[in-house]
Amino acid sequence: MSSATSLRFPQPVRLGRFGFDRPVMLAPMSGITDLPFRRLAASFGADMVVTEMVASESWLDGDADMALRSAGEGISPHVVQLAGREARWMGEAARAAEANGADIIDINMGCPAKRVTTGWSGAALMRDLDHALGLIEAVVGAVSVPVTLKMRLGWDRASVNAPELARRAEAAGVAMVTVHGRTRDEFYEGRADWEAIARVRDRISIPLIANGDVADFADAEAILGLSGADGLMIGRGACGRPWLPAAIARYFRDRECWFGPTGDELADVVVAHHRAVVDHYGPFKGVLAARKHLGWYVDAAIARVGGAARTDAAAIAELRSQILRATEAHWIESGVRALLSLIERAGDDAAPRSAADRSIPAGRAA
Ligand SMILES: Cc1cc2nc3c(=O)[nH]c(=O)nc-3n(C[C@H](O)[C@H](O)[C@H](O)COP(=O)(O)O)c2cc1C
Repeated sequence: MSSATSLRFPQPVRLGRFGFDRPVMLAPMSGITDLPFRRLAASFGADMVVTEMVASESWLDGDADMALRSAGEGISPHVVQLAGREARWMGEAARAAEANGADIIDINMGCPAKRVTTGWSGAALMRDLDHALGLIEAVVGAVSVPVTLKMRLGWDRASVNAPELARRAEAAGVAMVTVHGRTRDEFYEGRADWEAIARVRDRISIPLIANGDVADFADAEAILGLSGADGLMIGRGACGRPWLPAAIARYFRDRECWFGPTGDELADVVVAHHRAVVDHYGPFKGVLAARKHLGWYVDAAIARVGGAARTDAAAIAELRSQILRATEAHWIESGVRALLSLIERAGDDAAPRSAADRSIPAGRAA
């Protein structure tokens, strides 16, 4: 895909006192981008990481889960994403977030989930731009830190209004816009439409970040080339690969394809992540919350060795399932070390090119 697009590099972006030379960001994902995951992605070098969406009204009501979501100790810039349907609560929540240390406030107008849109939050706000603008103005007016906006292309294909919303948001003082190249009705189906994001580019002069389906270096080049955006945001591609935003930023800087840590280094990252999640949520909830990450790490390691994992497929599948059912953190951690080593040995034996290697356009691999 990238061969058909013009080559475009990420452009420097400034948000208040923060500057990003090559903006490659970690997308907000509820249930995933909690404090341990954001810290990890940032430690690899992700330019900006964003909290899970914080429901403004619940948070102001003292909801403990929302308070945990809004935490950002050790992260700079600390970007808090707020969701809500009423300007008053969004403004209040933005003020509270700034008082609690938020460096940037992001507004969610992209969440497609029914429980969110039936409450007229998330992507439902794109059905009524006047109302959406009321929220934006309330947030911008409540804080002194930069306010950014994340949206979809529109509610459905008959009402693609991201360019208009972005234009009005810029006029209202929003400092940066991120667009996921799908409509709300498309949820996560099909492929994100990177070219449609270019229509937003034509309407705004503030930084534009493109999002949707970026999983490797070739995708990163293609989304920038087709959208004309200044940078990109990566969500699901970073699951099991928290280094991906940093690796892509490095690719644009050095033209070097870095596929993340391997061997003991990878096992150390996974175990440290597991411990951080258990500390963050407490032993019971933490072990449950960490399972999905462990599954993704294992799947990413398997994808990396490609077909080679087939030789030990039964042993790998059995150990994976034992680890994902286990409740004892120490056992899980030694099990995951053994499993990652088993997968890598299968890869070494077959000496394959990695799945990620195969996605690099010819002549680009370092
Ligand atoms: C499990 C999950 C949770 C998400 N939660 C949020 C959220 O809290 N706020 C938000 O703006 N977008 C959320 N998103 C959307 C992502 O930020 C992103 O726009 C979308 O996944 C497309 O990017 P990707 O293809 O790189 O994942 C979520 C996506 C997923 C898969």
